[in-house]
Amino acid sequence: MNRETPPTIYLKDYTPPAWWIDTVDLDFVVETGATTVTARLALRRNPAVAAQPLVLDGEDLETLGVSVDGQPATFVATPTSLTLTDLPDACTLTTVVRIDPDKNTRLSGLYRSKDGYFTQCEAQGFRRITWFLDRPDVMSVYTVTLHADKEAFPVLLANGNPVAAGDEADGRHWAKWADPFRKPAYLFAVVAGKLDVLRDSFRTASGREVQLAIYVEPGKLDQCPHAMAALQKSMKWDEERFGLECDLDHYMIVAVGDFNMGAMENKGLNIFNTKYVLARPDVATDVDFENIDRVVAHEYFHNWTGNRVTCRDWFQLSLKEGLTVFRDQEFGADLHNRQTARIREVRGLRAAQFPEDAGPMAHPIRPASFVEINNFYTSTVYEKGAEVIRMIQTLIGRDAFRAGMDEYFRRHDGQAVTCEDFVAAMAAASGFDFTQFMRWYNQPGTPKVVVDGHYDPLERSYTLTCTQSNPRASDDAPALIPIRVALFTEADELIAGSERTLQLTANSQSFVFNDIGDEPVPSLLRDFSAPVNLEFDYTPEQLTLLLAFETDPFNAWEAGQRLASTLILGAAAEIAAGRTPQWPDSFTAACRRLLQTQRERGAAFVAEALTLPGETTLAEQLEIVDPDALHAARNGLRRHLAEQLEGEFSGLYAALTVKEAYAPDSEQAGRRALRNLCLSYLLELDSDALRRLAYAQFREADNMTDQFAALAALANINAAVCVQREEALAEFYDRWKDEALVVDKWLQVQSTSRRPDTLATVKALTQHPAFDAGNPNKIYALIRAFGANLVRFHAADGSGYAFMAERILLLHERNPQVASRLARSFDRWKKFDADRQAHARAALEKIRAHPGLVRDVLEVVERALG
Ligand code: PHE
Ligand code: ZN
Repeated sequence: MNRETPPTIYLKDYTPPAWWIDTVDLDFVVETGATTVTARLALRRNPAVAAQPLVLDGEDLETLGVSVDGQPATFVATPTSLTLTDLPDACTLTTVVRIDPDKNTRLSGLYRSKDGYFTQCEAQGFRRITWFLDRPDVMSVYTVTLHADKEAFPVLLANGNPVAAGDEADGRHWAKWADPFRKPAYLFAVVAGKLDVLRDSFRTASGREVQLAIYVEPGKLDQCPHAMAALQKSMKWDEERFGLECDLDHYMIVAVGDFNMGAMENKGLNIFNTKYVLARPDVATDVDFENIDRVVAHEYFHNWTGNRVTCRDWFQLSLKEGLTVFRDQEFGADLHNRQTARIREVRGLRAAQFPEDAGPMAHPIRPASFVEINNFYTSTVYEKGAEVIRMIQTLIGRDAFRAGMDEYFRRHDGQAVTCEDFVAAMAAASGFDFTQFMRWYNQPGTPKVVVDGHYDPLERSYTLTCTQSNPRASDDAPALIPIRVALFTEADELIAGSERTLQLTANSQSFVFNDIGDEPVPSLLRDFSAPVNLEFDYTPEQLTLLLAFETDPFNAWEAGQRLASTLILGAAAEIAAGRTPQWPDSFTAACRRLLQTQRERGAAFVAEALTLPGETTLAEQLEIVDPDALHAARNGLRRHLAEQLEGEFSGLYAALTVKEAYAPDSEQAGRRALRNLCLSYLLELDSDALRRLAYAQFREADNMTDQFAALAALANINAAVCVQREEALAEFYDRWKDEALVVDKWLQVQSTSRRPDTLATVKALTQHPAFDAGNPNKIYALIRAFGANLVRFHAADGSGYAFMAERILLLHERNPQVASRLARSFDRWKKFDADRQAHARAALEKIRAHPGLVRDVLEVVERALG
C-alpha cells in the first residue's frame, strides 16, 4: 500500500517544551466564508532546555502574515508546522491566519453548528485555529477579542471575564474577554451565536459570588433548569466533600447540537452536547436527568482536577479523567442512590471496558504510545481510571484520600503534572507504599482472581486462597488487588468481625479467618473493590443465599448476575447443540422473592437485580460466541420468567404506579424502573392484551421515561403484524420530530431492536429525514448503536459488517473521530466463528485499503487486523 505510515508517539520520548508562551492575545474577525485570526504570542525560551528553533503546530490554516516584534519574519511552513529560527530569547510573535469554520466538518477547532460558531480544542483542536505550541504543558494567560455581525451573532463569548464590548461599522460588534488563569490551549473556547440564556448565581463557602449562565439555541430555555440546579449542587458538593471552591467570577455552559463527545470543560466556558443539558419531563428520561447531573458535575469538577492542575502530556489523560469520573460517580451516588449507582457503574464497565481491555485496542489507563490521541478517550482511561482512583481510596480510607487530595493541590496547583505526581501526593498523605500499585497505570488487561475456600473444622479456621493472573500484561508480576470480603453463615447471617479488605499482593496468597464455627459462604469483592474478574466455585444455593441476604447491595446483585449468567451460558450451549434448555425452579423462586420484597429492598435495587446480564457482557465469558444461541438463551430465560411470574409482574405493574407529579428523583425513578421492567417482561408473552397495555402506557404517559419504556418494549416485538408497534413508532416520530434529542431516541430504539429485519430498517433510516449523516448524535444513535446490537451486527452473512464498513468510509474524511468510534464496533470480531471472521476480515481489509484513510480509523483497523 502506498500510504505513509502515521508516526507512533511514545511516552518515553517526552521532553519539555523549548519555549514558553506567557501571554496570548487573540483577535477573531468572523465573516461569512472565513474567519481571520490574529495571534500575538509572548514567547520566552525555556532556560532549562538547550536552545532550539520555535516549531509551532498548525492544521488547515491559511497563513497571511508572520512577524516578530513588529517586523516581517522569515519562516518555514509545512501544512502542519511553522518554524522560526534565530529568535531572540524573548519576543512577540504575531501571526495572521484565515480559517473556514463553515467547512470544518470534523467538529475540532472552530466550527459552525446551525447558526452559531463553537470551538472544541481538546486534545489538539487549537492548532486548527492558530499556530501554537499545542501541548498541555504550555500554559498561558489569554485575552480574546471577537468581531462579528451583531444581528446574526448577538452573543460573543470567550473564557474568563467580559472586559469591554462595543459596536462597529456595518452592523457589526465586538467583545473582549480576559481569562486571569494560565491555561493550556486545549481549555480555550469561543462562541458566537444567537442564543438564549438562563442566568443564576452561586455564593461560595467563602462568600464569592459566581455568575452562572447556560446558553442554548433559541426556544429551549424551558429545558435548562435541571442543568442549572445540577451545577449549583455540584458546586456545593465539591466544597463539602473536597473543600474545593469555585475560583471564577463567571461560569458559563453553552449547549450545541453538533458535538463529537459529551461535554468539554473549557475554563469558565464549558461547551456541552445538548444531550447533557436539555431536559424536561416530557422529553427526557430519568436516566437522562441523572446523566445530566453527572456530566454537569464532571465538567465542573474538572475546574480543579484538570484545569487548576492539568496534564503534562496526553499520556497522562487519566490523571484528570479517571479522577474526575470518580468524583462525578461519588456525586451521583450521594445525589441519587449509592447502591444502584455502583451496580450501574459495574454494569457499564463490564459492557464496555472489559471487552476493550480484552481486545485489540487494550491499553493501560496510561498508554505508553498512540498514533491518534483521540482514539484514547476510552472507557479504559475514563472508567477503569476511575476504578483505580477508587482503589486508592479503598486502600488508604476516605480521610487519608481527602488529605491526599489536599496535598495534591498544595503541591501542584497551577502545574501540568503526571499520574506519578498524583499518587505521590496520596502516598505522602497516607504513608501507604504505592510502588506495586503503579502497575495499574502501566499494564493493560483485566486481572483474573481465582479464589478457593477451605474450612478446617478442627482449627475452626477458614482459609481463602487467591491466585491472580493477567495474560494481557507484559510479565507475570502480581498486581496489588484490594478484595473486600465478608463471611456469611449457611443460616444467612453475616459473621461478626469477618468484614475485611484483603490486600492481594502476590501471585498466590492465603488469608485465614479464625474462630469460624461452620463452613461459611464467602462474599468476595464486595462493592466491586477492584476491576477484576473474580472466580469462586459457588453452588447455586450459596448464590441464592447471597442474593437474598448479603448486606452489601452490590454483591447481592452480583450473586444474581452469577446465577443468571450460568443459566444463560448453559442454555446457549444447549440451543447450539439443538436441544431445548431447561430452567431450574430455584431461580424463578429467587426472582419471585425479589419481587415480593421490593418494598424492603427498594424498587431500584430489584429492577437492577432482575435485569439479566447483557449479551456483550456474557459474550466475554465465551471462547467462541454463537450470537444467535446466546440471544435465544437470554430471551428464553426472560420469557420463562415472564410465564412463571406473570401474576407477580402484572400485580407490581399495577401497584407501582407513580401518582405524584413527575420528579426525576431516585425514589420515583426506582419505582418507574421496576414498573417498566415488569412491562418489558410481560411483553415477552404473545399477548395482544399486554401489547395493548404497553400501547396505552405509551399514549397516556405524561413523561418520557414511561413513554419511551413502552415504546422500547413494543419495538422488540417480532410478530408478523403488531399494530401497536407500528402505531407507537409512527406517533412518536410525528409528535417529536422537532426535538432532535427525542428523534435520537426514536432512531436508537429501532437500531437496537431484536427484530431480524433491523439492519434493513437501519439502512432505510439512513435515508429518512430524521437522520443527518454529519451529526454525531444521529450517527451514534443509528449506526454505532447498531454496532452494539450483538446479534444483528454479527449476522452470520456478514451484512452487518459490510454495512458498518460502508458507513465508516462514507464518514471518515468528514469526521475522523466519529468514524473511528464506529470502527471500534469490530473490536471483538475474533471471538466469532470462522465464517463470521472471514466476513469481518473482509470488511476491515476493505476499510484499510481505502486510499486516503484517515489515521484515526487506520490505527483502530490496523490494531484489529494485527
Ligand atoms: N474532556 C472532556 C471530558 O471528559 C471530553 C472531551 C474530550 C470532549 C475531547 C471533547 C473532546 O469532560
Ligand atoms: Zn472529563
